[in-house]
Amino acid sequence: MKALQYRTIGAGPELVEIETPEPGPGQVRLKVTAAGVCHSDEFIMSLPAENYVWGVPLTLGHEGAGIVDKLGEGVKGLAVGDAVAVYGPWGCGRCYPCSQGAENYCENAAAEGIVPPGLGAPGSMAEYMIVDDARHLVPLGDLDPVQNVSLTDAGLTPYHAIKLALPKLVPGTTAVVIGAGGLGHVGIQILRALTASTVVALDVADDKLALAKDVGAHYAWASDASAVDKVKELTGGLGAHAVIDFVDIQPTIDLGRAMIRVGGSQVLVGVGAGTTAVGVLAGPYESSITAPYWGTRSELFEVLEMARSGAIHVETEVFSLDEGVEAYHRLHAGTLRGRAVIVP
Ligand SMILES: NC(=O)c1ccc[n+]([C@@H]2O[C@H](COP(=O)([O-])OP(=O)(O)OC[C@H]3O[C@@H](n4cnc5c(N)ncnc54)[C@H](O)[C@@H]3O)[C@@H](O)[C@H]2O)c1
Ligand SMILES: [Zn+2]
Ligand SMILES: [Zn+2]
Repeated sequence: MKALQYRTIGAGPELVEIETPEPGPGQVRLKVTAAGVCHSDEFIMSLPAENYVWGVPLTLGHEGAGIVDKLGEGVKGLAVGDAVAVYGPWGCGRCYPCSQGAENYCENAAAEGIVPPGLGAPGSMAEYMIVDDARHLVPLGDLDPVQNVSLTDAGLTPYHAIKLALPKLVPGTTAVVIGAGGLGHVGIQILRALTASTVVALDVADDKLALAKDVGAHYAWASDASAVDKVKELTGGLGAHAVIDFVDIQPTIDLGRAMIRVGGSQVLVGVGAGTTAVGVLAGPYESSITAPYWGTRSELFEVLEMARSGAIHVETEVFSLDEGVEAYHRLHAGTLRGRAVIVP
């Protein structure tokens, strides 16, 4: 089968021919219908060998959807032909966080060598993929796989991040989204669907600001120091109640810190290398900073329901597996609208 793999550290992804995998006991083989392209793939492929821990060759793709194609020994509750989305942050299924569906924070994954597809295990950018457990498949039902595959990360991650700040986002509040790319443009819609807050989007690219407005941001402004004044002006001088940062380089973390109000929440989702100081004198009183990772299994069900109800959608640009390398070039160049999705 064809697969898009990261094979040489420092080089880009490559289209290769590999053997079609067989599902082992308890595993499920999917015929992949769609695979999403995430900035995190680009991030890991940018790392030098000493910081790269995901192994090579790595079949890329941690956003996946497919049709159940073959069941390993002992798999129950699924039938060949079922349309499913893959819950990516695989855990052990037995520990306390996993018992709550928070496999993204599994306590045993590291010790047991459990890694997500596309981030250690073979991912979805291939004609077929192996899913380690039926538990990690969520029914897609009538949702189109190509339009919705990215909800498994670009929907789930902002949903989880926004839920952390949600108790503060009562009517009359202001939420700021930094970075209106793959995750951010879904985050804006989630905020509009779950809150009555005023939503401000900040980005450095005009087309991304236009996209932010198209998907529901009340305001879309350049991501620079002028945004602090504008947010302050909008909020009676007090600042935003929540800042969800999908970039997290030093300038955006500093922007968020400068515009958050007393008691506000700064949620750091991007894998930029920025940091910030925390302390009584380092920021507004009782403000909180948190850096979440991905989301829980039950939240993936909830995100898919939001799409089913029409509350959120993913803007997608579709590429074939043969065009996969090009999709990563477009991501790197910042010219994608929403998410690139690869259809094998
Ligand atoms: N924490 C997690 O679990 C998790 C999960 C998925 C992705 N991520 C990370 O989230 C980030 C976003 O991923 P994506 O796939 O949406 O990326 P993307 O490339 O689709 O979007 C990034 C957006 O940020 C904008 N941007 C760049 N610099 C900016 C700045 N200084 N100010 C404001 N906007 C700026 C870009 O114009 C673009 O619109 C990445 O760092 C990715 O690695 C984290
Ligand atoms: Zn991702
Ligand atoms: Zn676990």
